[in-house]
Amino acid sequence: MADLSTTVNGLQMPNPFVIGSGPPGTNANVIGKAFDEGWGAVIAKTISLEAEKVINVQPRYARLRSRESREIFGWENIELISDRSFDTWIDEFKLLKDKYPGRILIASIMEEYRKDAWCEIVEKCQDAGVDAFELNLSCPHGLPERKMGSAMGVNPDLVEEVTGWAMSVAKVPVWAKMTPNVTRIEDPTSAALRAGADGISAINTIRSVLGVDLKTLRPEPSVEGYTTPGGYSCQAVKPIALRNCMEIATLILQDFPGKALSGIGGVETGLDAAEFILLGSDCVQVCTGVMKMGYKMVKPMMEDLSAFMDEHGFNSIDDFKGHSLQFFKTHAELVAIQAAAREKKKAAHDAKMIREDAQWTGDDFVDQSDALSRG
Ligand SMILES: Cc1cc2nc3c(=O)[nH]c(=O)nc-3n(C[C@H](O)[C@H](O)[C@H](O)COP(=O)(O)O)c2cc1C
Repeated sequence: MADLSTTVNGLQMPNPFVIGSGPPGTNANVIGKAFDEGWGAVIAKTISLEAEKVINVQPRYARLRSRESREIFGWENIELISDRSFDTWIDEFKLLKDKYPGRILIASIMEEYRKDAWCEIVEKCQDAGVDAFELNLSCPHGLPERKMGSAMGVNPDLVEEVTGWAMSVAKVPVWAKMTPNVTRIEDPTSAALRAGADGISAINTIRSVLGVDLKTLRPEPSVEGYTTPGGYSCQAVKPIALRNCMEIATLILQDFPGKALSGIGGVETGLDAAEFILLGSDCVQVCTGVMKMGYKMVKPMMEDLSAFMDEHGFNSIDDFKGHSLQFFKTHAELVAIQAAAREKKKAAHDAKMIREDAQWTGDDFVDQSDALSRG
C-alpha cells in the first residue's frame, strides 16, 4: 500500500483527507469521531466571537438528485457559521487537543471588519491549542449582510488587509479560504499570499438557487414560503473546483513557491482526491460527502487513492502533486500543437509513399501498400 501520509506547512497528516468546515465539524463529539475513523485532519465549523448574532433557520438545505438512481449530486445550503458560543468552542478545542495530541485540528474563523476582533479570535484559539487556522473569507450567504465572509473574499484589498491582521498574531499556519464567486480567483489568492498566508483553501460554495417547487411555486429551500440564495456544493461543483484549484496551483508555482493548496469541492472518493492532487493540491477537504455517506467513507477513500498510486508507481503524494498542470495550454497553443501533430503525421505518411522503384525493398511492403491505398 502506498504511503498516504503527508506534511502540509509542517502539519503532519496520516493521509490527505481533511474534514472541510461545516456540519461534519460541528462540535467536539463529531470531530473526535472523525479522528477515530482516521481522517487526516479536521477543520471545525467556522466560529466567531459573538455567536449570539448568528441565527439559523430551518430547513436550510435543498438537494438535487439524479433522475434515475436518485443519488444526491447537488446540495444547496443557507446555513450560517456556528451558533455555538465562543467559550464552548475554546473548551472543546482544549479537550480535543488533550485527547488527540498528535492529530491536526484547524480552527475556521470569521469576524467583522475590525483588526482587534481578528487578532482576538486568532490569539484565543491558538492559546487553546489549535494547530492551524482557516480564514473563512468566502461564505456566500447570510454573513455578507454583516460585511463578513465573501463580502471580504471578493475584494482583494480587504483580503490582503484582513489576512495581514491574522498573520500579525498567528504563530501557527494560516490558510485563506477562497470564494469561487469571482471572475479571477487569482486576484484574492495573490492578495492573501502577499499578506503572508501559508496556504489557500478552495473552493467554498457557489452562490446558487437550487430550484422552484412547481406545485407551490416557491423557491427551495423554503423557509415559511420564502428563501434566499445559498451556497452550492457536492459532486456537481467538482469541475468548477478543479478549474479554480488549477488556476491557484499555477499561480503558486509561478509566484508563491512553497505555499500550500487545500482542494475542496465535490470530493467523495479517493479518485476524486487524486484529480485534485494531480492539479496541485497538497490535501483535499470533504464536507457534503460526509453528510451523504458518514465518517467511515475515509477508509474506501484511502484504499482507492492507494490503489491509484500503486497502479502508477507513485510512492508518495509528492510524487504526483501537480503532475497534470503541465498539460494546460491556451487555446491558441492547442491550435498550434494540433497543426504540428498533423504535419508530423502527414510527413510520416508521405515518407512511406513510393516515389521511385528503388524504394521497393520488400522490408516495409505492407506499410508501403497501405500508403498507396484508399480505404
Ligand atoms: C451545510 C454546509 C455548511 C457549510 N458551512 C461552512 C462553514 O461554516 N465554513 C466554511 O468555511 N465552509 C462551509 N461550508 C463549505 C464547505 O466547507 C465546502 O467549502 C463546500 O461545501 C464545497 O465542498 P463539498 O462539495 O465537499 O461540500 C459548508 C458547506 C455545507 C454544505
